[in-house]
Amino acid sequence: MRPRVLTTAAQLRAALAEQLAAAGPGPVSLGLVPTMGALHEGHAALARAARTENDVVVATIFVNPLQFGDPLDLDRYPRTLEADLEILGGYGVDLVFVPSRQEMYPGGEPLVRLSAGRLGARFEGEFRPGHFDGMLTVVAKLLHLAWPAADAAYRAYFGQKDAQQLALIRRMVRDLSFTADIRAVPTVRSAEGLALSSRNRFLTAQEADAALVLSRALRLLAERAVRCEPLDLESAVALVESQPLVQLEYFEVVDPDTLEPLAFNCRETPFSGEALALIAARVGSVRLIDNQPLLADPAGT
Ligand code: PAF
Repeated sequence: MRPRVLTTAAQLRAALAEQLAAAGPGPVSLGLVPTMGALHEGHAALARAARTENDVVVATIFVNPLQFGDPLDLDRYPRTLEADLEILGGYGVDLVFVPSRQEMYPGGEPLVRLSAGRLGARFEGEFRPGHFDGMLTVVAKLLHLAWPAADAAYRAYFGQKDAQQLALIRRMVRDLSFTADIRAVPTVRSAEGLALSSRNRFLTAQEADAALVLSRALRLLAERAVRCEPLDLESAVALVESQPLVQLEYFEVVDPDTLEPLAFNCRETPFSGEALALIAARVGSVRLIDNQPLLADPAGT
């Protein structure tokens, strides 16, 4: 069934009040799935998780200009509203908020916005200055606009694929005392291993094939981690660099919460505990990011 589409904040609030009242009496829950549209199976996994855990599910589709540095990148971002609504309807999403730019930023470019600080300046932040400030600003607005009520459970769903985005949203929620519970949904991959992304559609068949080296290198690290072997990141970097169509931007092993680099010699120290491997590369004209949680299994199960 096609979900109900709301284009103004006032419509969203009224529709939410109606849906939450209908879901009661008693404690109710709301799941929020923020997106920029151009939906794929990765977004479907967010919608599915939200549907399973909540009485009312609202998705948002807004291509947020604040998080694009390059106007060409903003123009090129795919807009596929009708197909997106079909997908969201298929997963039982109740409401979809599709605001205009004017509705989200009535005063034009917002003067006041959030700062992602040091955590937003590294990795993606180095390649996309201002991106995370814009992302946090819109996510804060969306969390605010869809807030159900003090007595309702409030959950918001984000993909593990955008690990730095997820870490920053978690940090924002903690630092600014938002009440939403942030739920991470595992990365969805193609059968060959490529992490799904709205940008994959811009890859040629040859580039899509070359891009598989990213997940292959991440898998290599995950296998070494689980066996408590030294990660030997250098050999994984060499594997990626051996693929001529791929230009590596960064490949690092970090703390999963703070994204600070881990202080151990990857080449010699047997891996223990938990970490996160982050990778970004340009394949043709497309920038791809991926990541892999690393978890030691000393029992070898
Ligand atoms: O991950 C995305 O699609 C966007 O960054 C988000 C969270 C919807 C904010 O615009």
